[in-house]
Amino acid sequence: MHDHGSIAPLTDSEFRKISSFIEQEFGIRMPEAKKSLLQGRLHKRLVACGKRSYGEYFDFVTGDPAGKDEFLVFTDLVSTHETSFFREPGHFKHLRQALPGLAADKARLRFLCAACSTGEEAYSLAMTIDETLSEAGLGRVPFTVEGFDLSSHAVEAARRGVFSEARAKKIPDETMRRYMMRSKNPGKEVCRAVPELRARMLFHTGNLLDDMGLSERSYDVIFCRNVLIYFDRQNQHKVVAALASRLSDEGYLYLGHSETISNLDLPLKTIGHAVYQLR
Ligand SMILES: C[S@@+](CC[C@H](N)C(=O)[O-])C[C@H]1O[C@@H](n2cnc3c(N)ncnc32)[C@H](O)[C@@H]1O
Repeated sequence: MHDHGSIAPLTDSEFRKISSFIEQEFGIRMPEAKKSLLQGRLHKRLVACGKRSYGEYFDFVTGDPAGKDEFLVFTDLVSTHETSFFREPGHFKHLRQALPGLAADKARLRFLCAACSTGEEAYSLAMTIDETLSEAGLGRVPFTVEGFDLSSHAVEAARRGVFSEARAKKIPDETMRRYMMRSKNPGKEVCRAVPELRARMLFHTGNLLDDMGLSERSYDVIFCRNVLIYFDRQNQHKVVAALASRLSDEGYLYLGHSETISNLDLPLKTIGHAVYQLR
């Protein structure tokens, strides 16, 4: 149990108001079962901002210009950022096989990592691409990996590109040696991607339900994994349709392994486990 001190517990009507805002603005479903989770996550922020009720805090973040920075903290707290290097490794294996064909007559390749969280997925992509292209003798083909996420804190972390050694254990040894620099300070068990790789990465905040703030009209590969599960059917359709419209004719879209779109009417065909191409 949380010690709520002088803060009034989250009422049903406050929960309804906050949860429908989260669903509408970010697409993240907030059923009744998430009430205590939401209360737990926001409690500390009420204390930090000197608010006595969840309603007062919500009005501060959504309606008060002074709450602009706190809105970013709020956004960060209501979403789940769990991620890891080379998560769902089958997709990276698939990409390795598909990439030489995709790159063959291209002057440049563009990759998009939507809902990239703290960057592990985008860096896994960049390492896979660089390695595969150079093995295939296509090292001269320049590429960019653009990542975006709703959470500005996650995006800042992705931009820094500094990861704990513990998280980096998921990177194969050879790839690690080639692309990650270990901190020279033995007390600091962290590593950072080499500058050549960082130079290929572009991170920004963006909302999948909005215009996403993308810099390109079309992408050769789009990763959008483990975020659709938080959306209702209508928003899943909206998001995947928007991503499909950004996919190049022969490009690939990768969704999370547990995210099925087979019941949605979209111009996509399944070509692997949660891997799609335009029909
Ligand atoms: C569970 S993480 C998945 C990260 C990564 N794609 C992966 O598979 O490891 C979900 C991410 O989606 C982001 N997110 C949630 N709603 C979003 C939205 N409407 N637009 C953009 N990103 C969103 C969250 O901030 C979070 O970082």
